[in-house]
Amino acid sequence: MKKILVTSALPYANGSIHIGHLVEYIQTDIWVRYQKMCGHECYYVCADDAHGTPIMLRAQKEGISPEKMIARFQTEHQADFADFSIGFDNYYSTHSSETQHFSNLIYKGLKEGGYIERRTISQFYDPVEKMFLPDRFIRGECPKCGAKDQYGDSCEECSKTYNPTELKNPISAVSGAKPIEKESDHLFVNLSNFEAMLREWTGSGTLQPGVLHKLNEWFETGLQAWDISRDAPYFGFEIPDEPGKYFYVWLDAPIGYMASFKNLCDKKGIDFDEFWGAESQAELYHFIGKDIVYFHTLFWPAMLTGGGFRKPTAVFVHGFLTVDGQKMSKTRGTFINARTYLNHLNPEYLRYYFAAKLGHGVEDADLNLDDFLHRVNADLVGKMVNIASRCVGFITKRFDGQLASALPDIALYQEFIASGRLIGDAYDSRDYNKAVREIMALADQANQYINEHKPWVIAKQEEKAVELQGVCSQGLNLFRVLMGYLAPILPLMTKEVEAFLAAPITWQPEPLLAQTINPFKPLMKRVEKKQIDAMIEDSKESIPSKSMPSPVAETINYDDFAKVDLRIARIVKAEHVEGAQKLLRLTLDVGEEKTRNVFAGIKDAYAPEELINRLTVMVANLAPRQMRFGVSEGMVLAAGPGKKDLFLLSPDDGAQPGMRLK
Ligand code: MSP
Ligand code: ZN
Repeated sequence: MKKILVTSALPYANGSIHIGHLVEYIQTDIWVRYQKMCGHECYYVCADDAHGTPIMLRAQKEGISPEKMIARFQTEHQADFADFSIGFDNYYSTHSSETQHFSNLIYKGLKEGGYIERRTISQFYDPVEKMFLPDRFIRGECPKCGAKDQYGDSCEECSKTYNPTELKNPISAVSGAKPIEKESDHLFVNLSNFEAMLREWTGSGTLQPGVLHKLNEWFETGLQAWDISRDAPYFGFEIPDEPGKYFYVWLDAPIGYMASFKNLCDKKGIDFDEFWGAESQAELYHFIGKDIVYFHTLFWPAMLTGGGFRKPTAVFVHGFLTVDGQKMSKTRGTFINARTYLNHLNPEYLRYYFAAKLGHGVEDADLNLDDFLHRVNADLVGKMVNIASRCVGFITKRFDGQLASALPDIALYQEFIASGRLIGDAYDSRDYNKAVREIMALADQANQYINEHKPWVIAKQEEKAVELQGVCSQGLNLFRVLMGYLAPILPLMTKEVEAFLAAPITWQPEPLLAQTINPFKPLMKRVEKKQIDAMIEDSKESIPSKSMPSPVAETINYDDFAKVDLRIARIVKAEHVEGAQKLLRLTLDVGEEKTRNVFAGIKDAYAPEELINRLTVMVANLAPRQMRFGVSEGMVLAAGPGKKDLFLLSPDDGAQPGMRLK
């Protein structure tokens, strides 16, 4: 019996699980279920990845605390995973005391080992939000091709990669302000100090050939020092003895693997050090996507070594999911959330389809929707369920549900059992496509057995009752062996088969003889084209800003509310602003001596003429804000997702400019 610890990458706590993610969680879950069926002591842990700037900003935008938002996503993620039968032994969060404990410990190890270096760097800073901007939160014109509205790290038009400071006309995606360059001290891990260890570890069978190839390229280019600190404001853990500096999210994220396992150990009395101690003999595997290889094969082993922990036995990398040969797309309706899928289709269809497609390599996998329908119907319904449904009726009707006391073709049964070696090896090496091919070849053989012995013909001959019972029992026993082989892929169907055969489904079982079985319920329905179409339609609509009303913000008391001075305002003048794409300049009468100048992003929704003289509501005590086109002295209020769909507020008749809203 082996001791095995398995992880999947930790999903970010600011978005929903989609079918791309599910490639990984289904791949891992199948592997874990197989190991458990073999009797190994195997644990599968995961967690939400809860820190970082995007999470902080999204919570800010929703007007709730990051803690509240990550809690909401964790609940959602866990429900999605449970409904896809992803059987985690523990699901946790990186925003936990265990993660903080191990982060500090590893940092301390790195520092004492002399691996931490302090450097002053210059970065873009948002003067309005008073924060340093990650590359993804800076937009501007590509320095190479001039394409507008590109990210701070690379151009989507010409694929050039660059530094954010090279962008032309950069703006902060957070506030719209022009970023300034500002210096700050950062902490770096000197990765090149680990080079010998990393070369040794990566070259010792821990990685797939395609991944190793990439690693060698990286070694050749030279290992750069890794910036592990971020300045406040940041949602994460403050670095010990470095006030105002936080661990970069990718430092504590993989530590979340340890933290989740520690949390499980504390609940179950498992010995943590047997799995993570420097001398551990247990096996440790990380399943990840190809986009996060650098973090797991260079940074992570370096951190573990610096902190005095063992390194992974292997890192298993998979490719990305495409749908009908293309990147998942919201407009095409192929960016399918886990929940949207579940609203239309059986989760085991997808588990089976992914298994049928997945090998041990790093290639992308394609979900072809026509092939999906055809494959699931042909294999699972047409082959597998068919074996059972052709035999079971005779057993229940003619023999009171009792199976024969001997199998007529024990050699065939043994052949099915013997195939378990090959199928098991295929699971173990993550060649699920090969396992599925073998299993379906056996299913063909089982159906052929039934075709040849024609139970529906012998059923008409009274004197052949024993033969009939034998043939049908043979068919059901072959079915049971196959169900054992499919159990890692189809846990729900396995449960139903266990209920109907009144017997456990196991790997390479002894024949089930003279046993009374239960009446048969259809095990799986055919996929209908219209279900897939409806799911695609639904995914087209699930563009977040339109379909999801944002949740209500945190409770405030009256005093909080009273701080906001809302006034009735008359729009005296409304005009276009030269060079502004979204703004109108409004001149507002709020009952003061002087009018106010306010810029409002409502140009797509209103023509200036239709605004003149109408009453609306403004925030009158908002700090004035310097914009590219002048100072804005307040804000008018509107609702709606944006662009054309924006709706200004209006008071009832009788309201006068300057009246306060209470
Ligand atoms: N939070 C990091 C992982 C930290 S692990 C210490 C992250 N999160 S993620 O939500 O973006 O992705 C989680 C996993 O799902 C990653 O392994 C990623 O490669 C995988 N996938 C995300 N989209 C995918 C596809 N479209 N196709 C296949 N896998 C995909 O990265
Ligand atoms: Zn470009």
